[in-house]
Amino acid sequence: MASDRLIQGDAFAVAAGMPAKGLDAIYIDPPFGTGAVQRGRGHSYVDRADDPTAFVAWLSPLLVDSRRVLADTGSLFVHLDYRTIHYVKVELDRIFGRDQLVNEIVWCYSVGGKGRRGFGRKHDTILWYARTESWAFYPDAIRVPRRGGSHMRVIATAEGPVQEKTDKKTGRVYRYPVAAGKVPEDWWTDVETLNHSDAERTGWPSQKPERLIARILCAVTKPGDHVADWFAGSGTTAAVAQRLGRRFVVVDREGAAVSIIEKRLAAQRGALEATGNEVPPLEIVRDHI
Ligand SMILES: C[S@@+](CC[C@H](N)C(=O)[O-])C[C@H]1O[C@@H](n2cnc3c(N)ncnc32)[C@H](O)[C@@H]1O
Repeated sequence: MASDRLIQGDAFAVAAGMPAKGLDAIYIDPPFGTGAVQRGRGHSYVDRADDPTAFVAWLSPLLVDSRRVLADTGSLFVHLDYRTIHYVKVELDRIFGRDQLVNEIVWCYSVGGKGRRGFGRKHDTILWYARTESWAFYPDAIRVPRRGGSHMRVIATAEGPVQEKTDKKTGRVYRYPVAAGKVPEDWWTDVETLNHSDAERTGWPSQKPERLIARILCAVTKPGDHVADWFAGSGTTAAVAQRLGRRFVVVDREGAAVSIIEKRLAAQRGALEATGNEVPPLEIVRDHI
């Protein structure tokens, strides 16, 4: 079985060396461009200088290569915040085409500081661009329960439990299979950001929750598909891909991040194999040039 890959190296060099059309999904969470040193528990990395034009100029070649290495059914997800989203979105429109923007996902959370001179800044934005108009999407893999309420009731039928909803205005009765649930909207309030004592925490700064990445990967890939993360950090994408049976290549330039990912994947491998799952071997490349 071919190996999954964990690479210590430069995102740009690794992406430039990948063959065309080999990937089904790419998720990236680039260093945001705050100019700050990002600190986690015992770990830190230097963020990009605070100049959005320079940030886009820096990121652009990687976005171009990301499009090149995506299969025709593949998708790119770019995770950004309010300071960079508008600059990068224009660039992605240029590279992928405006029609290829599938969703601007707003990920809302509540943990963190409160607003004192304005509204609390409690969301990130994830831009989803498809390589072509025939992107893959698996709605049944990401359904969530419909919101209940007094006008919703669950009743047993021959086809299994259904939720029954009466439209108060028209009196019409709608029935949905309970198992089916609904496809989430493009604003997500049901995935909380990690708190300090979260079991998932690795100590790497700006670590994203596994549930967030799992929803993205399940939406656009199936088991056996290939995914990449050029700015792996603590390895959230790798951990989710390994758990969900997706093949992966992840990259970070920091040796400390690669060590964290190595440990994280080894621990999860143990748990997966103990429950009878077959996990592909992991190739670790240090000092990729
Ligand atoms: C915002 S963090 C990613 C966090 C990650 N999504 C997670 O859940 O842990 C950005 C990462 O990009 C890495 N990085 C910055 N510039 C890079 C480059 N040119 N090539 C590879 N990695 C880079 C940093 O070391 C940092 O770990």
